[in-house]
Amino acid sequence: VFFREQTLTPDQHKDFARQFAKIYIHPSVKGNVPGHPEIMEMRADENSKKGAVAEVWHSDSTADVNPPWGSLLFMHEVPSNGGGDTLFANMYAAYEALSEPVKRMLEGLQAVHDSQHLYKGNPNAAAIQRERPPSTEHPIVKTHPETGRKLLFVNAVYCSHIVGVSELESATLLDMLYRHIENPMFHCRFKWRPGSIAFWDNRACQHRAIWDFYPLRRRAQRVTICDDPPM
Ligand code: SIN
Repeated sequence: VFFREQTLTPDQHKDFARQFAKIYIHPSVKGNVPGHPEIMEMRADENSKKGAVAEVWHSDSTADVNPPWGSLLFMHEVPSNGGGDTLFANMYAAYEALSEPVKRMLEGLQAVHDSQHLYKGNPNAAAIQRERPPSTEHPIVKTHPETGRKLLFVNAVYCSHIVGVSELESATLLDMLYRHIENPMFHCRFKWRPGSIAFWDNRACQHRAIWDFYPLRRRAQRVTICDDPPM
């Protein structure tokens, strides 16, 4: 869901998010807006290094047992070249477009979602991981708890392998699914303006940003939400 021409203070951003669920705080990436640990500022400019913009298809924090189900991204500054769009891929449509034999093969398979690579160099990694296991398993085909529709639930940032199949089978299947997800038939592309909000369901879609604006500046703030206990 997209909204245009909004003005939100950080408190209003959080209040809006709380209308839907509890605010999720990432275990290793604390919020970086002073006084608002619940808000993550995403900024890219002339000093940004590779990885500063989330250019790989993903849904957020799927290595959690109960990943945040929603994200509300509020755009403050857009690059002056008109770039910096975000793509969303519909995981119901991706699942439904698979052939029946492949759907049957995926049914019942679990994938490991692992976040250890994101903790590299974090001095608090061991303590965080004691509290919160860095990896978990999710079914490759999930049923959305609200709509009851089936969807594809694997992403290239978190999935390390498929359980119970060979390394080659796992890598090949995941690669096939990631290439399938890249089909523009499943995508919508959002062009930001200052004051735009995107509110998406992390269970039903994946997203990725386009970094076609280096060295220009783009700045957004995100709040993510989860159900506790999970639905
Ligand atoms: C994100 O991955 O949550 C941010 C997407 C974006 O910067 O457009």
